[in-house]
Amino acid sequence: MTVSEPGELLRAPLFHTPRNPFLQDRALESHWDGGLLIRDGRIAACGDFETIRAAHPNTTTTDLRGGFLLPGLIDTHIHFPQLRVLGGLGRTLLDWLEECALPEEARMTDEAYARETARRFVHALASHGTTTALVFGAHFAAATAVLFEAASASGLRIVSGMVMSDRQLRPELHQTPEAAYRESSDLIRCYHRRGRLLYAVTPRFALSTSEAMLEVCQTLRREHEGLRFQTHLNENPREIAEVARLFPWASDYLAVYERFGFGGRGAVMAHNVHTTASELERLAAGDTAIAHCPCSNAALGSGLFALRRHLNAGVRVALGTDVGGGTGFGMLKEALQAYMLQRVAPEGALLDAAQMLYLATRAGADALGLDREVGDFEPDKAADVVYIKPPEDTPLSAVLERTETPEQALAAIFTLAGAESIREVRVQGTIVYKG
Ligand code: GUN
Ligand code: ZN
Repeated sequence: MTVSEPGELLRAPLFHTPRNPFLQDRALESHWDGGLLIRDGRIAACGDFETIRAAHPNTTTTDLRGGFLLPGLIDTHIHFPQLRVLGGLGRTLLDWLEECALPEEARMTDEAYARETARRFVHALASHGTTTALVFGAHFAAATAVLFEAASASGLRIVSGMVMSDRQLRPELHQTPEAAYRESSDLIRCYHRRGRLLYAVTPRFALSTSEAMLEVCQTLRREHEGLRFQTHLNENPREIAEVARLFPWASDYLAVYERFGFGGRGAVMAHNVHTTASELERLAAGDTAIAHCPCSNAALGSGLFALRRHLNAGVRVALGTDVGGGTGFGMLKEALQAYMLQRVAPEGALLDAAQMLYLATRAGADALGLDREVGDFEPDKAADVVYIKPPEDTPLSAVLERTETPEQALAAIFTLAGAESIREVRVQGTIVYKG
C-alpha cells in the first residue's frame, strides 16, 4: 500500500523572478513543464515537474497544463474608496480630487456603503490576480475597519491604514490630529498583524497634512513595531508648488517627509514623477520605495516617470494601479503600461518580460518588506499563486499556441491577459478566487 504524501503538486508552465532582472542577466526562472509543490501553504519545491515528482512520487498532482503559474501579483498603491470613480477622465490631479475622488470618499461615512465598496474592492483585487496590496483606507475609522474586515474575510494580504488629513480637502474629510491619533491607535491595536493584515500609517499627502498631523504619524510609527507607511510624492506640478508654499522651510517635497522621519524599508511613496537628483539620491540612501503608477500618470496627465533615473540612482521601484486615478485593477495591464510609456519617454528604459514580472511581483514584496514571505516561488515562501489560462478562441490562446520561448509567452500574457484569463488565485496555498 502506498501512503500519499501531504501536499499538492501543481503541474503547468511557470515563471518567477527570484533575482533582480534590472541587475542580473537571465533572472527569469521558467519551467516549461513546471512543478510547484505546495505543502502547509508554503512552497516546498519549484522546478521541472518530472524532477519534483520523482522526489515526491506519492504526492497528489493537479494537472494545470494549458495555463501558466505566476507568483501572486502585488499592487503597491491603490485607494479602496475610489472604486466607483474609475473612468473620471479629462482632469488633472487637483481638479480630479475635488470633482471626482473627494466627493466619493466623503460618502464613506455611510458604513453600509463603505462595506459594499470594500466587498467589491477586495473581490476585484482577487479576480485580477492581486494577492497582496498596499491600500489607502478611508478618512474615517469605521470605513477603514470595514475594509480590514473585508480583507480578512477575503484571505488576501492587505496592508492599509486610515487616511490622515487636516486641511485643504473638504471639511468632512478632515480630522484633528488628536482624533487621528486616537482612532489610528485603535485600528492598529485591532488589525496590525492580525492574520495577513498589516497597518500602514497613511498621511494623504503633504498638501493635506499640517505639521501637527505629520508629527502624529511619526509618533504612531515610534509607538508600534512593524508598521508600514504610505503617501504621495511629486505627482503634479501644481501640487508641488502648493507644497513648497505650505512648507517654506523644506528644500523640496521629499524634505517635508524626511523632517518627520518618513522613509525606510516598508515606506512607499506613490508617483514621484517630477523629481530631482537630490531626492533620488536620498530615496535610495533611505531605502524608501516608489510606487510607479503608469496608468494613473497618463490618465491624469501627471507626466512620464523617469524609470531609468530611479534605477540608476538605486531607488526601489514597484508598481501600483492607483485605482481610481488609474484605469483599473489589472497589474498585468499596469506592467504593460509601464512598458508602453517607457517606449515613448525620452531616454525611456526598454523593459523586457522578466522586468515586467519582477515589477509586478518581487519588487512589490521588497517595497513592502515582505520579501521573505512572498514575491516569488523560492522554497519556504508562502504559496501565493496565480493561475492564468486564456479562454478558448481568444487572441491570447491563439498566440500562446505559437510561442516558442518562455519570454515570448510571458510577454504575450502581459500584452493580452485581462481578468477573464485569471482562473485561480491562491494565498498561502488556499484558493481565494476561482474564475
Ligand atoms: N494625491 C493625494 N491624494 C491622491 C489620490 O487620491 N490620488 C492620486 N493619484 N494622487 C493623490
Ligand atoms: Zn494615489
